[in-house]
Amino acid sequence: IKRIGIITSGGDAPGMNAVIRSVTRTAVSEGIEVFAFFRGYAGILDKEYKKFNFSDVGGIMEKGGTILRTARVPEFKLPEIRKKAADNLKELGVEALIVIGGEGSLTGAKLMSEENDIKVIGIPGSIDNDISGTDMCIGVDTCLNTSVDSIQKLKDTASSHERAFIVEVMGRGSGYIALMSALATGAEAAIIPENPVDYKALGERLWEERKRGKINSIVVVAEGAASAYTVARHLENRIGFETRITILGHIQRGGSPSAFDRILASRMGYEAIQALLEGESNVMIALNRSSMERVAIDKVLTEKKDLDLDLIKLTNTLS
Ligand code: F6P
Repeated sequence: IKRIGIITSGGDAPGMNAVIRSVTRTAVSEGIEVFAFFRGYAGILDKEYKKFNFSDVGGIMEKGGTILRTARVPEFKLPEIRKKAADNLKELGVEALIVIGGEGSLTGAKLMSEENDIKVIGIPGSIDNDISGTDMCIGVDTCLNTSVDSIQKLKDTASSHERAFIVEVMGRGSGYIALMSALATGAEAAIIPENPVDYKALGERLWEERKRGKINSIVVVAEGAASAYTVARHLENRIGFETRITILGHIQRGGSPSAFDRILASRMGYEAIQALLEGESNVMIALNRSSMERVAIDKVLTEKKDLDLDLIKLTNTLS
C-alpha cells in the first residue's frame, strides 16, 4: 500500500485527534502517504483533503473535537454516491480508507468497500459506546468523566437545597452513559432505553428514601429513554422533593481526551495500519479485554452491543 485516506465521520468524540495522529505517524513510518479528508465522506465527495506528514499531527492529541471536522452525510446511503466517493479515492491513488466513527459511518464504509473494491478499516469512535465487538469506543471514557463531574456538581447544590435533579445525558439508543454515570455518582436511578421504567415504583422508592433522611435525589435519564421533562412530570409530586432539570447535551462530546482515550486511540490507530499491512479489509479495530483485535465490520453491524443490566440493580443497591 502506497497511499491511504483517513476521515472522521458522524458525531465527534474526544480522542479522534489522537487516532489521526497515530494513524498518520504509523503510516508515514511505514512509507505510506496519508491523505486526510475533511468533513467525513463529504470531503471525499468534494475532494477536500490535505496530505498529512509527521509534523501536521503534532500537538493535536490533547485537543477535543476533530481537526478534520466531521459530518453526517445522509446521501451516502445511495450506491451511486458511494461509487462517486470510491472513484474519487481511486483517482487520487488512495487504496484504502480509515474511517473513525459510529455505526452509520461503518455501514457506509463497508458498503463502499464491497461495491467498489476499496479497502477500509474502521475505528470505533462514539461517546455512546453502542458499537458491538469492542469493549470501549474512542471518546466514551472522556464523556463519562465529563458527565460524572457535572452530576457531582449538581449533587452539591441538590443537597444544599434538598432537591431532586433529573439529569438528561446523551445516548440515543444506548443507556451506557446514563447507567455508568449513575453508578459513578451514586445516583438514585438510571432510566435507560434498554430497561422500561415503572414510574410508580420508582417514585415510591424515592419517597421512602426521602422519608429515611436522604437530602437529595439524582435520577439520570438517557435521552433515548425519555426526556428529563417527562421524567420530572412523572416523579415530582410523588417523591417529596422540589425538582430541577438539567440537560447536559453536547458538553459531553467536547473536552481534552482522558489518558484512557489517548492510549486507546493511539493503540487503535497503530493497529489499523498493521491490519492494512497484513492485507486486511472491512474489519474494525476493537478492544477486547485489554488486547487489540480485528472484528469483521459485518459482524459488528449485525450484532447488538450488550449492556450489563445487572448494573441497574447495583446502582439501586448502592444509592
Ligand atoms: O451518537 C453520538 C451522539 O452524541 C448521541 O448520543 C446523540 O443523540 C447524537 O450524537 C447527537 O447528534 P447531533 O450532534 O447530530 O445532534
